[in-house]
Amino acid sequence: MRRPEFIARQSGCPSGLLGRLIGSIMATETAGANDAVVAALALQPSDCVVEIGFGHGRTLDRVARQLTAGGAAGIDLSETMVRMTARRCRDLIAAGRVTLHQGDSTRLPFPDGHFNKAYSVHTLYFWTHPEDHLREIHRVLCSGGRLALGFHTDEAPGARDFPETVYRFYSQAEVETLLQDAGFSKALLTEPTLHRGFVTAVATRSSVRLARREEVSSEHPEGRRAHPLRRRAAQEGAGRRRARRLRLEGRALSEEMGRAETAPRQAAQRQFSSSFAHHLR
Ligand SMILES: C[S@@+](CC[C@H](N)C(=O)[O-])C[C@H]1O[C@@H](n2cnc3c(N)ncnc32)[C@H](O)[C@@H]1O
Repeated sequence: MRRPEFIARQSGCPSGLLGRLIGSIMATETAGANDAVVAALALQPSDCVVEIGFGHGRTLDRVARQLTAGGAAGIDLSETMVRMTARRCRDLIAAGRVTLHQGDSTRLPFPDGHFNKAYSVHTLYFWTHPEDHLREIHRVLCSGGRLALGFHTDEAPGARDFPETVYRFYSQAEVETLLQDAGFSKALLTEPTLHRGFVTAVATRSSVRLARREEVSSEHPEGRRAHPLRRRAAQEGAGRRRARRLRLEGRALSEEMGRAETAPRQAAQRQFSSSFAHHLR
């Protein structure tokens, strides 16, 4: 069924009473997808995490409660969603464990290398120039930092029900290219078979690899696309319940990403965690 344009616009930036209603419905509707994305982050208590486009704040609240020695921040375009999430997370905000910002993710109000993990779910469709948002997320991640991006692909059943004037859906290959062009050195994507074509892309920031790729691409404009960094880590098991499959899939990605991560990254993460704690004071 075709979605009315005014509802689609509300999803892109909920406002007022209708925005609050849409936010509440969304919190339930997108819970499974958000849980899969969070599983792919393999959170540690000392992580410093940012959510882009937190909406209703259900996921940010759950993530922040796991970060007993770190902290979480979020940014959303919608004033209505910032208020809704501020209410939901009031105890965490009062304790200095969550900070919320209203704004556009093309201009993140954080210094370079500020977080070691970032995630964003169902936001990509609304970004006019996704590369600008991804480059900003890359900037605020420390070396070795991880981004988990959750989205429906252009092949998802129902993608055509959303008005193209508001939504733009991408193929997996396009998202891989966007991530690489933003400077991410590695992107693993789940199979789009679960959750009605929902995919989690997990990418890592690595300054060394980025420098190498830039050298190649300056000589060969198509050089970046010539490096297939994608590896699939989906865990499929016929007959398993979907929630379990989503969890396993996230864990598989995390394990594969963990193998690719190095001791220097973990050291950077520890150093970062203490700087985040300092920032919150
Ligand atoms: C469809 S909702 C998704 C909410 C939540 N992430 C989820 O999965 O349920 C999209 C959210 O992204 C926010 N958003 C859209 N474009 C944004 C931008 N450029 N910067 C920050 N937030 C943005 C919207 O205000 C909205 O709250």
